[in-house]
Amino acid sequence: MCGIFGYCNYLVERSRGEIIDTLVDGLQRLEYRGYDSTGIAIDGDEADSTFIYKQIGKVSALKEEITKQNPNRDVTFVSHCGIAHTRWATHGQPEQVNCHPQRSDPEDQFVVVHNGIITNFRELKTLLINKGYKFESDTDTECIAKLYLHLYNTNLQNGHDLDFHELTKLVLLELEGSYGLLCKSCHYPNEVIATRKGSPLLIGVKSEKKLKVDFVDVEFPEENAGQPEIPLKSNNKSFGLGPKKAREFEAGSQNANLLPIAANEFNLRHSQSRAFLSEDGSPTPVEFFVSSDAASVVKHTKKVLFLEDDDLAHIYDGELHIHRSRREVGASMTRSIQTLEMELAQIMKGPYDHFMQKEIYEQPESTFNTMRGRIDYENNKVILGGLKAWLPVIRRARRLIMIACGTSYHSCLATRAIFEELSDIPVSVELASDFLDRKCPVFRDDVCVFVSQSGETADTMLALNYCLERGALTVGIVNSVGSSISRVTHCGVHINAGPEIGVASTKAYTSQYIALVMFALSLSDDRVSKIDRRIEIIQGLKLIPGQIKQVLKLEPRIKKLCATELKDQKSLLLLGRGYQFAAALEGALKIKEISYMHSEGVLAGELKHGVLALVDENLPIIAFGTRDSLFPKVVSSIEQVTARKGHPIIICNENDEVWAQKSKSIDLQTLEVPQTVDCLQGLINIIPLQLMSYWLAVNKGIDVDFPRNLAKSVTVE
Ligand code: UD1
Ligand code: BG6
Repeated sequence: MCGIFGYCNYLVERSRGEIIDTLVDGLQRLEYRGYDSTGIAIDGDEADSTFIYKQIGKVSALKEEITKQNPNRDVTFVSHCGIAHTRWATHGQPEQVNCHPQRSDPEDQFVVVHNGIITNFRELKTLLINKGYKFESDTDTECIAKLYLHLYNTNLQNGHDLDFHELTKLVLLELEGSYGLLCKSCHYPNEVIATRKGSPLLIGVKSEKKLKVDFVDVEFPEENAGQPEIPLKSNNKSFGLGPKKAREFEAGSQNANLLPIAANEFNLRHSQSRAFLSEDGSPTPVEFFVSSDAASVVKHTKKVLFLEDDDLAHIYDGELHIHRSRREVGASMTRSIQTLEMELAQIMKGPYDHFMQKEIYEQPESTFNTMRGRIDYENNKVILGGLKAWLPVIRRARRLIMIACGTSYHSCLATRAIFEELSDIPVSVELASDFLDRKCPVFRDDVCVFVSQSGETADTMLALNYCLERGALTVGIVNSVGSSISRVTHCGVHINAGPEIGVASTKAYTSQYIALVMFALSLSDDRVSKIDRRIEIIQGLKLIPGQIKQVLKLEPRIKKLCATELKDQKSLLLLGRGYQFAAALEGALKIKEISYMHSEGVLAGELKHGVLALVDENLPIIAFGTRDSLFPKVVSSIEQVTARKGHPIIICNENDEVWAQKSKSIDLQTLEVPQTVDCLQGLINIIPLQLMSYWLAVNKGIDVDFPRNLAKSVTVE
């Protein structure tokens, strides 16, 4: 949930000012991933010195801090590596001392930026304190920087002048938990290390000359290397190695795969990465942009390489080397340099005040993009390229388990009934954290569907690993191409909604919803008995983008409601039933997360079992009263509310006689939306609630793109 950015220029002259601006601009595009504090590290004025600038708050505050410190911006660097970070606190308050980069010592010999959590940091910290290291922050990250220094010094004392990546391997051997990590050091000038485990990292490459090949070879330690020296063990018996690591280490020592020492790898230091070779073998000017998110890289280059878990990238002398500590059977020997198709304009705010507003308004287009090329409306066919080959296996599943968090979970709830109806397979919907807490039984003939906008949510990712271990087939419904969930699942569907930057998920919800409906339709395309229902839904989907456009016209009325009746309210109830229960939950979540108003989605059928006690003339209530087979029951629930002097706002279909009649005798208002097929109505009904949460928040002066205590991508448990 933090953001990492790194910039390396090689034989491309840049002033310090330009380097700072590049790093700060990179952070600005990552701000949505975490924004309680920021920082950068660059080379200082003296050889071996480093400048670290940090500040609490947004990137704009860091900019001011740097201006205040007034570094000489005109000094130029032909080659240089800088690292940067935007943080969302997990260990330690958002205080300046807890901002990244974290350093090894007051001389800043090793500086580190980190996403994720080091779970054994307390043990490491105790050990390092016992060795005389003085900690200055509450972060888990600081122990990584200090570990670098400690291992660097002990190896040097033992006559091992380790290469930066070899030293990093020793450091990683000590770490448990998850990380996306960049490290820079005055002992390795103009070099940077980028490595990941459970936290995304990608590297953009920019070069005037065409790359020789569009991949980078993965480098392994030599198979038949001799017995290594073991600096940690020889220097300190008790240091570091936890039981798991110790086992891996022992195994490594026996088969010489996990060797933590340099001797067997010296030859690799000089092997060149083929992609960066020039025709005549001379050095090629090149720039590298390392980031946790493509959004900060596209401005500079579209050529990117996604690192895999346990990849250790070493950038130096204009080359990018990717190391792994051991060979795994069947693992890829290369990492491809791909071309991103994301335009920078896609991630800018355009004419809107907030990303959230922009993304709400993008929905006619984003929902269209989700369906583009996948639905043949003439022949009523749905073809999902990513699932086609897997459908026969999925149809044989004993059950479908849908697993997700937050808004993504609501898209599963919204489509569960249509899955069951079209596929005749039992479907359960699970919150990822609860699913794991219960250690839910999973079998080889289960199909587990993971829904995630970011594709990086830790709880969902852990649940995915859990299901993979149990042999289930896993399907991803993901927005971010190249994300962990998209890559680890057996198959899946990219929802193609485009980057979603506002923390409150809006367009990803409607696109997930549609992707799931298309999935359900694909499962039933061999069923004669379902033909009419399928045609009805496919033709309904065709109209959705236009209908969303129409609902968006309600904005002025909703804005007014938010400024009058709903203003200064403490609480709000949302009533829905059947397909509209998910809309009630999602609407309530939007209102809570953005406007900080208590809001609750209630199953209308449950009203009489407790919630009615809350209803009086003051409590604002919004009820979904659109037409479907449950309509009479919904009307009856709403009558229970009005009988207790409640005066609900009803989201209903245009020109609905029932509500027109009722509004003559009962105190209620209506917000009219177009009618569609029952299982798609939730796509339309959620739009007024997205707008309502937006205006409730804006009226209170809240920065909706940065709600308090929330991050866009939650990559910790
Ligand atoms: C793919 C291409 C698209 C191209 C189209 C043309 C990608 C990302 N998409 O789209 O650019 O226009 O073919 O035929 O290259 N997958 C997972 N897990 C997930 C999501 C996807 O494993 O969570 C897999 C799918 O099974 C598939 C691949 O990723 O193998 C691409 O999925 P998707 O983008 O949905 O496929 P197409 O719509 O066919
Ligand atoms: C976070 C976000 O909690 O993660 C929510 O604030 C989001 O908006 C949830 O719904 C799940 O994220 P994802 O990326 O897995 O869909």
